[in-house]
Amino acid sequence: MKKSVIAGAVALAAVSAMLLSGCSTTAAGANRACIILPDADSGTRWEPGDRPALEKALTAAGFEADIQNAQNDTSKYATIGDQMLTKGCGVMMLVDLQGAGAAVAAKATKQGIPVIAYDRPITGADYYVSFDNTRVGEMEGQTVLDGLKANGVDPKSASIVYSSGDPADGNAKMVLDGALSVLDAAGAHAAFTMAGTWDGPTAGTEFEQAYTKLNGKIDAVLAPNDNNAANIIAILSKNGKTVPVSGQDASVAGLQNVLLGTQTATVYKPFKTEAAAASDLAIKLLKGEKPTVSKKLADGTPFMALDPILIKAADVHTVVEAGDAKASDICTTDVAAACAKYGVK
Ligand code: BGC
Repeated sequence: MKKSVIAGAVALAAVSAMLLSGCSTTAAGANRACIILPDADSGTRWEPGDRPALEKALTAAGFEADIQNAQNDTSKYATIGDQMLTKGCGVMMLVDLQGAGAAVAAKATKQGIPVIAYDRPITGADYYVSFDNTRVGEMEGQTVLDGLKANGVDPKSASIVYSSGDPADGNAKMVLDGALSVLDAAGAHAAFTMAGTWDGPTAGTEFEQAYTKLNGKIDAVLAPNDNNAANIIAILSKNGKTVPVSGQDASVAGLQNVLLGTQTATVYKPFKTEAAAASDLAIKLLKGEKPTVSKKLADGTPFMALDPILIKAADVHTVVEAGDAKASDICTTDVAAACAKYGVK
């Protein structure tokens, strides 16, 4: 009898140890925010901007942030997703890469893990946190129109090169649609449409083709972000031309071009604001809450849409004052005079 009681107690202890270790495995996963970034070269934001901001907010709240970068490789994206899910995640935050986010989101959902699509929409995500991308596009379209107006060029007859981000990025489509709504309303049309890309050098090559095709007769360029714009501006400069060019991200190169007048404006999307909104949401989900968001995407995904800010030369100092760019990085020798003129210090 005594023996069996002891045996029973041993068995019970073993079971509870198993349960405990089971629990602690789940708890380790439940404490983790698993985050996948898309690349390190399509702009300057993901690694230097978003990563530290997300990491700081999540770890300050006592959670683990496992942040990895797919380096522009969709199969690597899938592998990272699988590895993270094996280790365990309490929430997943994914920046899509050419549609690779959807499969990872589906696997996470199957395991009951909430998914936040960060910056780029993902089919099947529970939430989408981004800037109002349509508004970003409207600002870019307006940038082109403002630049043409300043040059006394009628948008209806202007020779404009249209370009956009990677067509596999749903966010790039929203930006393009926003830009087109403004340009169409002004009676503008594309003299040449470049294939969409987030790869700067590819944008440069495509623009070179546009330039040749149009014999250099270009009045303005609709460019989706500062990185693409910089590669386009390099071709224009090589040919001794300055025309209105749009962009987004308020990157150092973009802000320099805006100060120099080679880019008309940039759309500033403070990554700290975006990272804070997404981390707050992630923290609530990690705590088991079910936050509600009033706005929705067309497919019904709850959408937290933040307000972008248009930055012209006279506004560049505000980005520096907000701590999102350093005057020492922007005001290099060739930009120093423009910095002095526009009070960037
Ligand atoms: C982001 C932009 C970025 C681009 C390239 C977009 O989805 O919204 O801020 O410049 O991707 O990385």
